[in-house]
Amino acid sequence: MSEIIISPSILSADFANLERDIKKVELAGADWLHIDVMDGHFVPNITIGIPVVKSIKKVSNIPLDVHLMIENPAKYAESFIQAGADILTFHYEAMKSENEILQLIELIKSLNCKAGMSIKPKTQPEKILPYLKELDLLLVMTVEPGFGGQKFMPDCAEKIPLIKKHSDENLIIQVDGGINEQTAKICKDDGASSLVAGNYIYKSENVQAAISSLR
Ligand code: DX5
Ligand code: ZN
Repeated sequence: MSEIIISPSILSADFANLERDIKKVELAGADWLHIDVMDGHFVPNITIGIPVVKSIKKVSNIPLDVHLMIENPAKYAESFIQAGADILTFHYEAMKSENEILQLIELIKSLNCKAGMSIKPKTQPEKILPYLKELDLLLVMTVEPGFGGQKFMPDCAEKIPLIKKHSDENLIIQVDGGINEQTAKICKDDGASSLVAGNYIYKSENVQAAISSLR
């Protein structure tokens, strides 16, 4: 039986009390900490950058799961890893060629970081099958990237079985967007091994119960 990796997204935390809100999910049993990096180009929103990841690293005790929603991720990958990323996920849609994708995966892994690639809702899973053997993690977005608190798109979760069929046991299949107790169940049944949740965890009265309910 494989364990589900729960990665709370600090996008829904109080940025004025980030350390407090990181400790809150750590103490509640979070496995990873999901950090959403947005550049205002790849997605319309702007969020966290390299200096903030560096500061978070100093106060957190769990792996940092950094989700890059930026253009030209190869330019910044090394800086995010030096800042403390343990898992670095870039978007398939931000890449220009197969070669560029393979080189970036290799770079991330050579820096002792787990390499993840993500697909937006409209990207067909067939496109990324050739890369699964190289990746440590494949992130299936179940909302349009850019904002927390959106509604789960069930069609997106339907991509998971095909991805699972074409990957080996070690690939972590992560889902991000609109995850709560009900949608988590759909994703786990489809074969997801890691769940990101922002709003559901941070807006809940009992963070520990919210995290447990996703397992
Ligand atoms: C969306 C981000 C998500 C977001 C999830 O672009 O990638 O990580 O924080 O938030 P919820 O769980 O609230 O949908
Ligand atoms: Zn994310």
